[in-house]
Amino acid sequence: MQKYVIQGGKPLTGSVTISGAKNAAVAIIPAALLADGVCRIENVPQISDVTLILRILQELGARVKLVNRHTVEIDSRHILSFCVPDELSRKMRASYYLIGALLGRFGRAVVSMPGGCDLGTRPIDLHLKSFQALGAKVSVEGGYVHATAPEGRLHGAGIYMDQASVGATMNAMLAAVRAHGTTTIENAAKEPHIVDLANFLNTMGADIAGAGTDVIRVRGVRALHGGTYSIIPDQIEAGTYLAAVAAAGGDVFIRNVIPKHLDCITAKLEEMGVQVEEYGDAVRVIRRGPLRRTNIKTMPYPGFPTDMQPQIAACLCLANGTSVINEGIWENRYRYVAEFRRLGAHIQVDGKIAVIEGVDRLTGAPLRACDLRAGAAMVIAGLAAEGMTEISCIHYIERGYENLVEKLQGIGADIRLVDTQDEDSQRAGQAG
Ligand code: EPZ
Repeated sequence: MQKYVIQGGKPLTGSVTISGAKNAAVAIIPAALLADGVCRIENVPQISDVTLILRILQELGARVKLVNRHTVEIDSRHILSFCVPDELSRKMRASYYLIGALLGRFGRAVVSMPGGCDLGTRPIDLHLKSFQALGAKVSVEGGYVHATAPEGRLHGAGIYMDQASVGATMNAMLAAVRAHGTTTIENAAKEPHIVDLANFLNTMGADIAGAGTDVIRVRGVRALHGGTYSIIPDQIEAGTYLAAVAAAGGDVFIRNVIPKHLDCITAKLEEMGVQVEEYGDAVRVIRRGPLRRTNIKTMPYPGFPTDMQPQIAACLCLANGTSVINEGIWENRYRYVAEFRRLGAHIQVDGKIAVIEGVDRLTGAPLRACDLRAGAAMVIAGLAAEGMTEISCIHYIERGYENLVEKLQGIGADIRLVDTQDEDSQRAGQAG
């Protein structure tokens, strides 16, 4: 087992570089299944969710070549299978993109129901409704989604999303790009990674317009060709480092960002007394004085992102005054609260509302990560707390953050990765 050991209470200084966006990569990589050619994808983050989705493509028969740490070439011309085994696909939420991609490529898909962080019930009814609107016969049997286009190819349709679902919007695009006819997706999600997927598909010869707005139009094409594409920087990773400086204090330059994508986060941090300066593809974040309280409501983009809610909560634990968070997307995104209380935080939760009464200080304690962003928030809280914080179950965190320890060490954090087995054997040696 491994854990992070943090000696908190130190301000952060220096510069850190953001990696490619996880939630774009886990959609763009399956999208390569639709191309009759080699797709070269650059700025791919080195995280376990990406490793897993690449492994699934290999299991399907795609040729995957790691050109370097952040560039992969995928050749899907020789795959024959449209079945994705349970033991792989249930390890992550994004495996549902394989349904849309395989359906768009073969007119058939058999994929195990997805897994992913426990944020409450995470239905995929909007995904399945989209596939049915495009002409697929869809059923769920034995824990697998079975989708079939009766004539072997889907047809264009008008799709209205009951909710602005990121996954369902992306999946509808994947299934529609090679359909016969035109598809419109209304009440579409507008996150940066939606636009990134549309740009990738258009680079491969698709005909998609309107991504990033409420209405996306997809004109179906017979085939997609290979090409080269670079994934956008990760909005949430950048936001996580902004929150780390807000909580621990300091002055850090965050490189390889798209400042526009951070507006929703930056605006809230500035309300809290944090200074953020924009420089083309970088931002500088400074926090020296006390943090002020604020209220947060998580919304679909361009609102405040739910994936930043635990991280901003860590900051609000140390703000002057009482703050209120309203989690507008997920039913169960406060699993970190019990862990924060071990640090001395004062948080009350009632359904989707959390009331945080700021305290003067947090003190380090052993914590256990419970999902990706909650784990990241625990790291932030540990950096701000006085004394030592240990965080176990770090596999959750490593799903979405590339080189977290090295990047934090690079801006002055006292954090190290410890293998508990080594630690135990050292203790045994000392005892013996
Ligand atoms: C994506 O999840 C992200 N995951 C999540 O990030 C993120 O929290 C979420 O979008 C919202 O931004 C990936 O991209 C892999 P949704 P997704 O469909 O697609 C309901 C992280 O930390 N809904 O936009 O699953 C759903 O229950 C992860 O990186 C349905 O009811 O989210 C939720 O209330 C955690 N039926 C709301 O819509 C459906 O068919 C938004 O979900 C689909 C969704």
